[in-house]
Amino acid sequence: MRSYATSLLLFGLLAPSRAATVAHDLREEIAARDCCQTLQSQLGPTAVLFPGSAGFQQLVNSYYSAQESEIISQCRVSAHSAQDVSDAIKIITKGGCNFSVRSAGHMTWAGAANIQAPGVAIDLKQMNAVDVSADKKVVSLGPGNSWGPVYDALDPFNVTVVGGRSNTVGVGGFILGGGFSNLSPAHGFASDNVVNYQVVLANGRIVNANKTSNPDLFHGLKGGSTNLGIITRYDVNAFPLTPKWGGSRGYNVSQGPAIFDAMIKFIKKLPQEPLGGGSVVWGYSEDLKNDTIFGSFAYLGADATESKAQLFSEMLDVPATFDTIRTNTDQQWLDSEVDVAFPGGLRRIFSTLTLKVDREIAVGIYQKSHDAFAGLVGKPGVSWTASFQPISVTHLQATERAGGTPQGLSPADGDLILLNLNTVWLEESDDAAMQAAVREVINWGTKEAKKRNVLHPWLYINYALPDQKVYDSYGKTNVNALLKIKNKFDPKNTFGKLWKGGFKL
Ligand SMILES: Cc1cc2nc3c(=O)[nH]c(=O)nc-3n(C[C@H](O)[C@H](O)[C@H](O)COP(=O)(O)OP(=O)(O)OC[C@H]3O[C@@H](n4cnc5c(N)ncnc54)[C@H](O)[C@@H]3O)c2cc1C
Ligand SMILES: *[C@@H]1O[C@H](CO)[C@@H](O)[C@H](O)[C@H]1NC(C)=O
Ligand SMILES: *[C@@H]1O[C@H](CO)[C@@H](O)[C@H](O)[C@H]1NC(C)=O
Ligand SMILES: *[C@@H]1O[C@H](CO)[C@@H](O)[C@H](O)[C@H]1NC(C)=O
Ligand SMILES: *[C@@H]1O[C@H](CO)[C@@H](O)[C@H](O)[C@H]1NC(C)=O
Ligand SMILES: *[C@@H]1O[C@H](CO)[C@@H](O)[C@H](O)[C@H]1NC(C)=O
Repeated sequence: MRSYATSLLLFGLLAPSRAATVAHDLREEIAARDCCQTLQSQLGPTAVLFPGSAGFQQLVNSYYSAQESEIISQCRVSAHSAQDVSDAIKIITKGGCNFSVRSAGHMTWAGAANIQAPGVAIDLKQMNAVDVSADKKVVSLGPGNSWGPVYDALDPFNVTVVGGRSNTVGVGGFILGGGFSNLSPAHGFASDNVVNYQVVLANGRIVNANKTSNPDLFHGLKGGSTNLGIITRYDVNAFPLTPKWGGSRGYNVSQGPAIFDAMIKFIKKLPQEPLGGGSVVWGYSEDLKNDTIFGSFAYLGADATESKAQLFSEMLDVPATFDTIRTNTDQQWLDSEVDVAFPGGLRRIFSTLTLKVDREIAVGIYQKSHDAFAGLVGKPGVSWTASFQPISVTHLQATERAGGTPQGLSPADGDLILLNLNTVWLEESDDAAMQAAVREVINWGTKEAKKRNVLHPWLYINYALPDQKVYDSYGKTNVNALLKIKNKFDPKNTFGKLWKGGFKL
């Protein structure tokens, strides 16, 4: 399209007003071509990939959602080191090119971590080192890792980290946004367990951010999204590997309210035994051609059969339609259940709300979703699920112990429930209707939760729709503090102007 318009312009075939925008496009195109050429000559031909090449396509195909894979950038920098990222940032910002950054590419919305030409994509997927410190207390992770390979690499060292509950989800975006783990009730967000970030700043400088060096940046990166820096290494706390127990249990959908009551009892027990992860997924299953509800369970303490049975007892008491719970399974095995339920390569959107612990709002959101998606069910590949995940007060206490978060959460908020409304479909022609149904549910849920006095304002960056007001949800004081940090580390607002995707302060 663009190059066709460009040639029309060159041959003087366009009307003046159209020509003006095309001239603008042409300047951008030239800038982008310059950026990519300079990148290639300085970083080398294997580090800069162009559309049409196998290497380029392989990276583009590895985005999680189909919408992200459809976006074709001018070129793609496949960075292998912090120095590559630093060099790339210097070249791209000097050339005035727009860019995006991706780690494993699991954020679902189009443009979250990819960019259409003339933009340039910086791809960190090859930065996938996993290094365990000599004392086995700290693990250094390249941002391009996915959690499955990380857990595999850590097993021989007998350690684990506060990481994802899916093998395919990425390290970079996950920790940047916070990161809910099966270990979160005990140890808080993944980001609460970062001891040091290696970061490339807007001027290309590579710095460390930790409690003693750039402590303001260190704090800001726990909610900074695409505003403060590109993280090229996360150094995180390691914990002893323990035996695991868990899996999923399916239930008759008529048991939904009972399951929810059971989940509330589970959340209330976490202060005594914060070693259990659990969530409830309630929605429409493609496979069953019917509504479904299932619970996922994970217990990561030592093999204390009685404590885990006690912790989950109410959820285990409801009769199951299927049950995959096992003992001594590894983290990859637990996560593979999530991966089966959430395959990549499909059209997909996540959306979110945070709720106080209340059965009625959960039941209401399920029923509202059932109605909102009714007209879409049966269209190719359509399914939707509302997953309800505890944010226990023990998690928020761990966050506070680690120095707090700029995201506006505190133990005083009490136990909370995080909603992830996750929708899947196959046809582009259903995009608008799916998006409208998602919005209908989120708007209804917001209004209804407010009415019931069970809405918490927080919006989780890693689940939010592109236009959900994530930063407003952190509160003015936090946003002002983040802006101050941004102005200090990016005084010319280079990232604000050129770095597309994520959420902007
Ligand atoms: C199947 C599945 C399972 C999931 N499970 C969980 C879960 O258990 N817990 C949970 O909390 N979330 C979960 N999520 C959500 C997940 O946290 C987000 O999708 C997260 O953004 C993924 O990280 P990524 O590296 O793959 O993201 P990307 O899409 O690569 O990046 C996400 C955002 O972060 C920015 N970014 C990425 N890397 C960097 C970097 N190094 N420096 C600066 N900016 C960067 C990108 O520009 C983009 O805006 C899941 C998602 C999926 C699809
Ligand atoms: C960068 O993106 C903005 C929109 O976000 C656009 O206005 C601008 O022209 C783009 N610049 C280049 C060089 O492509
Ligand atoms: C791992 O830890 C377990 C329990 O703490 C211990 O029994 C085992 O010997 C350890 N294995 C290695 C390789 O250190
Ligand atoms: C913090 O950064 C400084 C400066 O780069 C570095 O010397 C120190 O080792 C870092 N601390 C941690 C915990 O990584
Ligand atoms: C689910 O429960 C309903 C209501 O009790 C019952 O009518 C239905 O047969 C059950 N379905 C299955 C598959 O057990
Ligand atoms: C869907 O589930 C309901 C409730 O369990 C049940 O009554 C109904 O028969 C199911 N429908 C199909 C098509 O399986």
